Amino acid sequence: MTYRNLLIADHDAIREITINRPEKLNALDRATIAELDRAFAEAGADPAVRVAVLAGAGGKAFVAGADISELADADPLAARAMSRAGQALMRRIEGLGKPVIARIDGYALGGGLELAMACHLRLASEKARLGLPEITLGLLPGFGGTQRLLRLAGRSAALELCLTGTPVDAARAYALGLVNRVVAADQLAGEVLALARKLADSAPIALAAILDAVLIGGECGIEAGLDYETQQFAVCSASEDMREGTRAFLEKRAAQFLGR
Ligand code: COA
Repeated sequence: MTYRNLLIADHDAIREITINRPEKLNALDRATIAELDRAFAEAGADPAVRVAVLAGAGGKAFVAGADISELADADPLAARAMSRAGQALMRRIEGLGKPVIARIDGYALGGGLELAMACHLRLASEKARLGLPEITLGLLPGFGGTQRLLRLAGRSAALELCLTGTPVDAARAYALGLVNRVVAADQLAGEVLALARKLADSAPIALAAILDAVLIGGECGIEAGLDYETQQFAVCSASEDMREGTRAFLEKRAAQFLGR
């Protein structure tokens, strides 16, 4: 599949998807959102892909938001369609069933932070700036930002970032639980790759079960969440990988997981 605004690279079982509009700080126009949706559908369907990494090209921004030039002329119906398309992309990433790591080097603003929050793990460089500046445009976040920031960092942080629109630096983003780790810019790619390799070597059925259990658990009551966890525990116990993982431990060797 060819893409105009994305670069796709595979490192063994790791699919790296890079948004490549550096001259616009990788802003998400309609075309890029549609391409990302296709790229993640493809990564999700390909059994050779076990982990995805999402990044922005150029070293200045992960993504500086939805494309404001498209927003400026949107009437309510067009804006509604843009919001729905953005939300659908975020849902696809969140529900991919494979870990997605956001590599945040520079600005992750508006739709960029919303995209990062839909990923399962976020690693940022020290020069990252994260925020939801939609209020400065007379808008609110429309790609799930009000909902995911609330769930990730709580009501106080969600209201502060959404109401003021002021971005936070990497250290504050880490303190708020918005990113998993902050590293020096020149080490970011290496750290992300090392984390991706670790996940790629793990049992894919168990990874998918964890992703789903945590996602569903964030949206339902504790009883339903615990029940889902039990069902997934049983499903994993029927996998060859579970036999391999437990045997490898007992035999004091590294496990080789095949995804079965
Ligand atoms: N949509 C469309 N274009 C964008 C964009 C966005 N969200 N963010 C940046 N760009 C474009 C700029 O218009 C500029 O294009 P030009 O060279 O054709 O004029 C180019 O990217 C570089 O951005 P610029 O503003 O010149 O860089 P900067 O270093 O001075 O500032 C930011 C960087 C991120 C602070 C600034 O670009 C910004 O505030 N962007 C918008 C952030 C935002 O509100 N996002 C939420 C959107 S819902």
